[in-house]
Amino acid sequence: MKDQAEKLRILTRNVKQQIEAEIDTVPKRKHTRVIAVTSGKGGVGKTNIALNLAISISELGEKVILLDADMGLGNVDIIVGLIPRYNLYDLIKREKSIREIMITGPKGIQIIPGGSGIFQMADLKEWDLRMIVDELGSLDGESDYLIVDTGAGIASNVLNFALTADEIIIVTTPEPTSITDAYGIIKTATLRKARGKFHLIVNRVESKSEGDAVGKNIEYVCKRFLNVKVNILGHVMEDSKVHNAVMQQQALMLMAPSSIAAQNVRGIAHSLCGVNAQPRVEPIGIKDFFRRLVKSLE
Ligand SMILES: Nc1ncnc2c1ncn2[C@@H]1O[C@H](COP(=O)(O)OP(=O)(O)OP(=O)(O)O)[C@@H](O)[C@H]1O
Ligand SMILES: [Mg+2]
Repeated sequence: MKDQAEKLRILTRNVKQQIEAEIDTVPKRKHTRVIAVTSGKGGVGKTNIALNLAISISELGEKVILLDADMGLGNVDIIVGLIPRYNLYDLIKREKSIREIMITGPKGIQIIPGGSGIFQMADLKEWDLRMIVDELGSLDGESDYLIVDTGAGIASNVLNFALTADEIIIVTTPEPTSITDAYGIIKTATLRKARGKFHLIVNRVESKSEGDAVGKNIEYVCKRFLNVKVNILGHVMEDSKVHNAVMQQQALMLMAPSSIAAQNVRGIAHSLCGVNAQPRVEPIGIKDFFRRLVKSLE
């Protein structure tokens, strides 16, 4: 009798240990890091940076979704020569699922063509909206990063992405107007209580020192006048290969992987994925991102 009780105890202990070991090995489903790429001035290189950064992060072994939320020209699909058959609008019409809308881009990145769908989400009835947000939310945790390519400026339909994301990458060039507008967007986002952390990329620089100087300048004024910390992610050199890639509708990282601009983007991907650039806030995940975004569009 005593023997049997002992056996039972050992058995129970073994099962317990087994379960604990299993819990430890099951990867915890973490939320996706949502990063908006935006700028004050238009045409500074957001779409190219968003796309090539997404590819570089994917090359580091992370899963990346790229959301094309730019209503203007120069959409992501055009610069990689892909023709999306559907966009978020088809999801809203309930004609397609999110997985049917997404297209696979270079290095396995998943691209969500936004179309005008994002802004039409604001007009949905509560029930429909919940369905849509659930559908988009089903992607959460499946990918490590959601990079959102937005338009430029402080119009609310652009700014809302910046206010909602976990992190905001501001792209500027060394041009004084671009710097002023970059500061302007950081200021507006701060006054509107952006929840995320600000990162800065200085694009189209002639030298590293020019990039450093612009970065330091913006970092200083933001600290001094807004009391906001801006993390300098790095710079991308002026490089004709970027223009060539756009003309050939191919991603720079594929067409000219050893070009100086591609190397710069790779360096930025490293620092974004590194420990020093982790988000200031816990990532909210894709579902909450869309939920908050739609709320802000109302
Ligand atoms: N590092 C670079 N070197 C040379 N040319 C560049 C570089 N970055 C961007 N460009 C040029 O600038 C153009 C505009 O870039 P892009 O479309 O990425 O800007 P954007 O900020 O997304 O514009 P928009 O505000 O219209 O969305 C590119 O087509 C390319 O020719
Ligand atoms: Mg663009």
